[in-house]
Amino acid sequence: MGLFDIFGKKKETSNKLFYDTEVHCHILPGIDDGSPDVATSVELVKQMQSWGIRRIITTSHVTEETFENTPETIQAAYQKLQAALDAEGIEMEIKPSAEYRMDEYFLRQIKNATLLPFPENYILIENSFYQPFWEIKELIFDLKLKGYTPILAHPERYMYYHKTPQIYKELHDYGCLFQVNLLSLMGYYYPQVRDLSWRMLDDGMVDFIGSDMHHIKHAQHISQYIQTREYRKLAEKAKDIKNNSIQF
Ligand SMILES: [Fe+2]
Repeated sequence: MGLFDIFGKKKETSNKLFYDTEVHCHILPGIDDGSPDVATSVELVKQMQSWGIRRIITTSHVTEETFENTPETIQAAYQKLQAALDAEGIEMEIKPSAEYRMDEYFLRQIKNATLLPFPENYILIENSFYQPFWEIKELIFDLKLKGYTPILAHPERYMYYHKTPQIYKELHDYGCLFQVNLLSLMGYYYPQVRDLSWRMLDDGMVDFIGSDMHHIKHAQHISQYIQTREYRKLAEKAKDIKNNSIQF
């Protein structure tokens, strides 16, 4: 490929990520649309390790009808992965958690107190990609009242919010933290999503960055991106994110 890689950006030598704690990924085997089996999960962990990741919070989908996971199904998948990592002598600190779609199923899990939050009681929540949850502010309020700190997953990817960008400041001021996808910043999805994610960074509205990695293809894109000059710029701009400060 020579001097310029496929993104048309000059190559640099660094291959480490600027954070060592991953907060959004679908690497547990067989319980959502991420890794289908233990072998793939181990491969994804190895990829993350090569980027300097030392701690991973796994965030399997919990969504009504499609992935009705519970703390039990998530823990069981985690045990399978951990056993495989132990067998291969791979050291990685992993905390299993979830990415909760805001829906009726989630409301029931809150009511029944059967959530599996991050360490420090952060809870990763997401909207549907078609429409926002109708009572998102009430839900944020309720979660905070119960001692959780909600983190909205990839706010930049909800296209319906692009038309009313003031919603971002409202939700953030309301006490909802934001986790932006590394893949968004890289331009993996749409140019508008990329542009918004960089603007949010400039506006101090990015609390966490996560890969949202589902499969090997995502990992390959990230591996290439962290060789680029643009990646260096990102690392500088994102130095205040909270990923590494989470107490395990
Ligand atoms: Fe996700």
